[in-house]
This record gives sequence, C-alpha cells and structure tokens, in this order.
Amino acid sequence: MLRIENLCTYFHAKGQTIKAVDGVSLEVSRGEILGLVGESGCGKSTLSRTVMQLIPPTSGKIFLEDRDLSGLTPKEVRDERLNFQMVFQDPYASLNPRMTVFSTLAEALKRRHPNFAGDELSIKVGELMEKVGLAPRFMKKYPHEFSGGQRQRIAIARALAPEPKLIIADEPVSALDVSIQSQILNLLTNLVKDLNLTMIFISHDLSVVHYIADKIAVMQRGKIVEKGTADEVMEQAQHDYTKTLLSAIPHVTR
Ligand SMILES: Nc1ncnc2c1ncn2[C@@H]1O[C@H](COP(=O)(O)OP(=O)(O)O)[C@@H](O)[C@H]1O
Ligand SMILES: [Mg+2]
Repeated sequence: MLRIENLCTYFHAKGQTIKAVDGVSLEVSRGEILGLVGESGCGKSTLSRTVMQLIPPTSGKIFLEDRDLSGLTPKEVRDERLNFQMVFQDPYASLNPRMTVFSTLAEALKRRHPNFAGDELSIKVGELMEKVGLAPRFMKKYPHEFSGGQRQRIAIARALAPEPKLIIADEPVSALDVSIQSQILNLLTNLVKDLNLTMIFISHDLSVVHYIADKIAVMQRGKIVEKGTADEVMEQAQHDYTKTLLSAIPHVTR
C-alpha cells in the first residue's frame, strides 16, 4: 500500500541543517498497522507530514499503491491527499470549535462526495458517528460539549469521512486519560480491520505501540534503527536504543 524509499527531509535554520528524516525506507501492507516509535524530536511528525505531502522531501520517494507521489502536479497532490488522512494528538486543537459535529463531518464527507446533501448527508453523518461509537443524536453539538475521548472519536470520524486508504495517527492517545486510551486503541484496531484500512500509528511510548501495531519501526535521530513484527521487536530487540525504550516500560522486565 505504501512504500517509502530512502526518504530525507532536512530543515535549514540559523545556518544549520537539521536532518529530521534521514534516509528512511519503510513498507506498509494493506490492512496493516505499522507502529512508529521513538523519543520526542526524533523526526516522527516530520516523516508523517512528508508522507502526507504537506512538506516536500529533500530526497527519496513515496509510493502509494505503486504510484510515485513525487511527480504529481499541485492538483494531483490535492486529489491524492484525500487518500491520506491524519489523526492528531490534541482533538480539541484540531477540531473547529465553532462547527457542530454535523458540519465538521458533512464538510469532510463532501470532499469525496460533493453531491451529498439533505437527508442523505444526515444519514451518512449518522453512520460515521456510529462507526466511531458516538450516538447520532449528538450531531448538533459542539466539540466543547464532549469529553476528550469523544472528541478524539469525532476527529477519527472526520479522518474516515473521505474514505482514505491510509491513516496516519500521530500520538492519538498521548493527550488522553490512561483509562480512555485503550478504548481509542481498540476503536482504531477494529476500524482498520473492518474497513481494510492501512495505518501508521505514531507514539513515543513503545508499550502503546506494541498494543496496537502489527509491525514496529524504531526511529532515532531521523533514522529507522530497528524494524520487525511487534513481537520480534519486543522480545528480541537488537538495537541498544530499542532496549532503552523497553527498559522504560515499567512492567517489562528482562
Ligand atoms: N518546520 C521546522 N523547521 C525546522 N526544524 C523543524 C521543523 N519541524 C521539525 N523540526 C525539527 O526536526 C526534528 C524532528 O522533529 P519532529 O518531526 O517534530 O519530531 P517528533 O515528532 O519525533 O517529536 C526536531 O529537531 C525539530 O526541532
Ligand atoms: Mg511529533
């Protein structure tokens, strides 16, 4: 579904070059959840923003279903972006506080289906809400009327609305209460399965990534230092950095 080849994204600031993403190669198959883990500042968000075509890569290639995204025109990039959707850490910041759930989701649905209107649109909004475990009767409410976990469900519904092929979730549970985190992780897992989606799940927390991911890639200073199935990485970590992340998880002793 997604192939990243030797991707580099450098920033130039104050006469310095910051190699935020420095030669990353990754593959994600359809239906798979790839967990991307690494400490703050290692380049996870820059990698996801580069894949989303929000920042141009310095070098390297990104393929979605074998289509090379580097040679696209701006219009093609806009169309292609419907196939990629993001879920962010802070749903309150990413949702417009002046828009009801209905308007937020209607707008997102119309990006793929501009002709949706009237009853059909309301029905589609209701269906989306049900998919993420929200009652459709709340569609006229505003983000501040929901809890943090419910707001993240709205943000997930908005990401699903344009029927994306790939979802990048960047620290989607890091701002939530621990008691809510597993509900959102289970929701994401079930959505990926039921809708045959593909997901890159980003977190600084290896235990969260292990809970949800099929495969794990460990990132340090712009590079992938270790990758494998979730169990391989947890049980047979090769790289010292991965071992450091493992030792930071309280209940793992080895
Ligand atoms: N727009 C930018 N301009 C300059 N440097 C940036 C920019 N965005 C990120 N960086 C730098 O790139 C590095 C990686 O940042 P980021 O991708 O946000 O890491 P993470 O998401 O893993 O915390 C950091 O050193 C950060 O300061
Ligand atoms: Mg980040």
